[in-house]
Amino acid sequence: MANIIITGVNGLLGQKLLRQATAHHTVLGVDIHEKTFVKKVKFEYQRLDITERHATRDTVLNFYPEFIVNTAAMTDVDACEEQREQCWKVNVQALENLIYAARKIGSKIIHLSTDYVFDGKNGPYSENDICSPLGYYGKSKLASENVLKASDVEHAIVRTMVLYGSGIAVRPNFVTWLIAALQQKRQVNIVTDQIGNPTLADELAAAILKIIQVEKMDIFHVSGSEIVDRYHFALKIAEVFDLDSNLIKPIQTQQLKQIAPRPLKSGFIIDKAIRELDCELSDAEQGLKKIKKQLKKLW
Ligand SMILES: NC(=O)c1ccc[n+]([C@@H]2O[C@H](COP(=O)([O-])OP(=O)(O)OC[C@H]3O[C@@H](n4cnc5c(N)ncnc54)[C@H](OP(=O)(O)O)[C@@H]3O)[C@@H](O)[C@H]2O)c1
Repeated sequence: MANIIITGVNGLLGQKLLRQATAHHTVLGVDIHEKTFVKKVKFEYQRLDITERHATRDTVLNFYPEFIVNTAAMTDVDACEEQREQCWKVNVQALENLIYAARKIGSKIIHLSTDYVFDGKNGPYSENDICSPLGYYGKSKLASENVLKASDVEHAIVRTMVLYGSGIAVRPNFVTWLIAALQQKRQVNIVTDQIGNPTLADELAAAILKIIQVEKMDIFHVSGSEIVDRYHFALKIAEVFDLDSNLIKPIQTQQLKQIAPRPLKSGFIIDKAIRELDCELSDAEQGLKKIKKQLKKLW
């Protein structure tokens, strides 16, 4: 049983972590919103903007956590490309605030990062591969990793990608967005040239709690076990949810004219997480079948 602060607790991963963590730990959930979206879970919630240094320090010192899990981030990669100052503030400076507070009382930090720290020219990647981010979001996340590594705070860095799952009032992820579009009989254009491992948020949360349990403060790639391109993942979603796959049209990334560049040939080698954390990481079909039940409850 540990005292844990989860930042970004209203987000997709934050909600999953909270639901699993409260069974074994005392949790303070913080997020930028006035109220928590999470229901039917007993935990302490506090509004906290982690870019505010003094408020962050006060919250951490009051709660005295053994672990801080930092899921809060600016995750919209195109917005990060355009609003660079805000992106840096949330993704880098806010972590510096957590480090500043954590080192006063010896809290350990588990920080979330992304495959966008890689350029996607030569995936799949292992933890030791050289980072070379293409866009500003990836640059900010790599900078956050480096800030943590340079600190004297005990820490773990968990890189993940293509996170999906159900949550209350969370922004749509690829799976929930696609299901909604296909249910509304809308045609969707999905890229064939972006490759990666779709990751069930529940399993990522379980892996993070395993890091806490076994105290392996290290760097881990934690994602689903299957490397798949986005188009074939979309077809799998249609199949599992009995939706019309004829509405899914294959296109190339460059046709989307997105603001931020994306790593194309990405993907993670997850052997280290499986070996050292003994965690369950589903392939695409298994993961989708697991959330089918959860989503039915929300509909
Ligand atoms: N989603 C993915 O596919 C993916 C892939 C790779 C890595 N990751 C990483 O995994 C982590 C969790 O992702 P997620 O999808 O669960 O994120 P999310 O759903 O966007 O949740 C992040 C939460 O943090 C909040 N937040 C933003 N700025 C804050 C601040 N200054 N102070 C306190 N809270 C703040 C957000 O509020 P608002 O919604 O109001 O901003 C949101 O509730 C992030 O670090 C992300 O970079 C995600």
